[in-house]
Amino acid sequence: MKDYKRTLVTCALPYANGPVHIGHLAGVYVPADIYVRYLRMRGKDVLFVCGSDEHGVPITIKARKEGCTPQDIVDRYHGIIKKAFSDFGIDFDIYSRTSSDIHSDTATDFFKKLYDEGKFITKESEQYYDTEAKTFLADRYIVGTCPKCGNEGAYGDQCEKCGCTLSPEELINPKSKLSGAEPIKKATTHWYLPLQDYELWLREWILEGHKEWKTNVYGQVKSWLDGGLQPRAVTRDLDWGVPVPIEGAEGKVLYVWFDAPIGYISNTKELLPNDWEKWWKSEDTKLVHFIGKDNIVFHCIVFPSILKAYGDGFILPENVPANEFLNLEGDKISTSRNWAVWLHEYLKDFPQMQDVLRYVLTANAPETKDNDFTWKDFQTRNNSELVAIYGNFVNRAVVLTHKNFEGKVPVNLKPEAIDAETLNQIPAIRAAIEDNIEHYKFREALKEAISLARLGNKYISDTEPWRVSKTDMDRTASILYTSLQICANLAIAMEPFLPFSAKKLTEMLCLENLSWDQIGSGEIIPAGHQIAAAQLMFSKIEDAQIDVQLAKLAASKAANAEDVTAVTLDTAKAECIFEDFEKMDIRTATVLEAERVPKTDKLLHLKIDTGLDKREIVSGIAEYYSPEEMVGKQICILANLKPRKIKGIESKGMILMARQPDGKMRIVAPDERLVNGATIG
Ligand code: MF3
Ligand code: ZN
Repeated sequence: MKDYKRTLVTCALPYANGPVHIGHLAGVYVPADIYVRYLRMRGKDVLFVCGSDEHGVPITIKARKEGCTPQDIVDRYHGIIKKAFSDFGIDFDIYSRTSSDIHSDTATDFFKKLYDEGKFITKESEQYYDTEAKTFLADRYIVGTCPKCGNEGAYGDQCEKCGCTLSPEELINPKSKLSGAEPIKKATTHWYLPLQDYELWLREWILEGHKEWKTNVYGQVKSWLDGGLQPRAVTRDLDWGVPVPIEGAEGKVLYVWFDAPIGYISNTKELLPNDWEKWWKSEDTKLVHFIGKDNIVFHCIVFPSILKAYGDGFILPENVPANEFLNLEGDKISTSRNWAVWLHEYLKDFPQMQDVLRYVLTANAPETKDNDFTWKDFQTRNNSELVAIYGNFVNRAVVLTHKNFEGKVPVNLKPEAIDAETLNQIPAIRAAIEDNIEHYKFREALKEAISLARLGNKYISDTEPWRVSKTDMDRTASILYTSLQICANLAIAMEPFLPFSAKKLTEMLCLENLSWDQIGSGEIIPAGHQIAAAQLMFSKIEDAQIDVQLAKLAASKAANAEDVTAVTLDTAKAECIFEDFEKMDIRTATVLEAERVPKTDKLLHLKIDTGLDKREIVSGIAEYYSPEEMVGKQICILANLKPRKIKGIESKGMILMARQPDGKMRIVAPDERLVNGATIG
């Protein structure tokens, strides 16, 4: 592997149209921060660059909604986001913003050079125009009826009800969000980067040259390339953004995805006006982009093509370790549905507990697939890992040193085999942490780091210094000497992951200037060294605290469901007794065959395996499921319902279905496949 002189780490610039949540942290910012802290502890030359992405349509929409300017919006959220990162210990060398002058100059220069060198093509197309507001309408500014599900509030790019992607032309009865008027089609000219011209080069660079990239990243790039690249518009008809710097382009700005990645460069320039080029134009610099999966195409295809077109020695990323998404309690995180854990709110409810969240988000990081954050898991990991293992071990070592040796590291007077055996395991743990971090596997790396705490906890439980101290002070000295060495190793190894508690630990041990290379090197904290009083690193999280969080989420759910429930929920039924319920023989079954009942549109004729027998039933679900969809599905049936003839077929049983207020029906089934005939109750 190439030996680089320096590493430039960037994190996706978050849109300044709302605060940041745990999904952002888990996917991008915590892993990047671990990586940077690790390199710094190794004494490497690192630059960590981020900032707010302050252009784009969502920001203008938010401003309109709140009756203020886009600048007001980005001023507000830039501050909130910047503070949240710093509160969580994510210490960028610079966190700037794309509304800065230096950014607008840099992006302008990029566009101009590419334009002057003929790297763009122009195309005229017809786009929706609002004659009242006298402006072209970005996709999000057009609403209408979804052609797929009939939702009347679908946007020009997406229907949020059924989740389908749309183009404005597909909307039925399109209306401008600005004036409510029906938009007209009007011709407009835009500049496009002909991505297809870069296809071969991209193939060679990534598909041939970077087979080591994460499979989710490599796979997405490959499928884009295999699908064939198209010219991409790099300008928009909008009044918020970097103006297109050529004559005849009034009322047009650079597309947000053209200017935002250039923000990495302008922010570096802002920080190091005289020295920025060595970070961007030297083959000795390793460039790594940390992003979420929705940003892959822009960082692996579009931005590199822009840099390639620009030339002038700009380097390309050596890796783009993109993560998948984090869900929350089984549901997609969503700003509009308020289904999120916001960082600033978390810190109000769990003050000083940044490391707990960093820990849980890393332990569950969505590195290879989408993952789920649950409050229960958060509590368990805190209580049974951070408190019970790491915190408990450190506390016992420090407290016993004070109790028995006045807070001085004792002399290793009476070593035994277990001491060396324990300490000798540390170099291998260190190597595993390094290897994992260097391959962007932060969950594994953290697992290794916590195994060091497990090692310490096991050592102190096995050697029992609290018992030995009653009879053998020399041996006690050795046990605590060894324990304190493990603590010192932990103070270093944990720093990239849990910097706040590592700092406390370093302070407790009165150590300074620790470096990564000391891990596993033998004595880090010498005999006679005075340590400070024990501090609490982690504290137990009670059920009541978790209940508060769950209640908050339940409230979000209820608020979102309100409009539906208020109107049409079926009324509650009269009370029944358990014996009523018990009479029902409800079981799992699997559909073997399915066909429509001729001359009806609602009925399916199914053959099912109930475990007890194979039988036929007729079910009114044809509006919701096709016969093909049904075959092989596991269902639940009321098996002892008195048989009934329907359309000449004897139906023996009934399928359990859930009916939504709007009438939509879905099958109710176990959340994993069970044997047929499993009883339900
Ligand atoms: N603002 C974008 C998002 O949140 C990310 C921009 S990354 C950059 O998805 F490279 F364009 F800066
Ligand atoms: Zn729809």
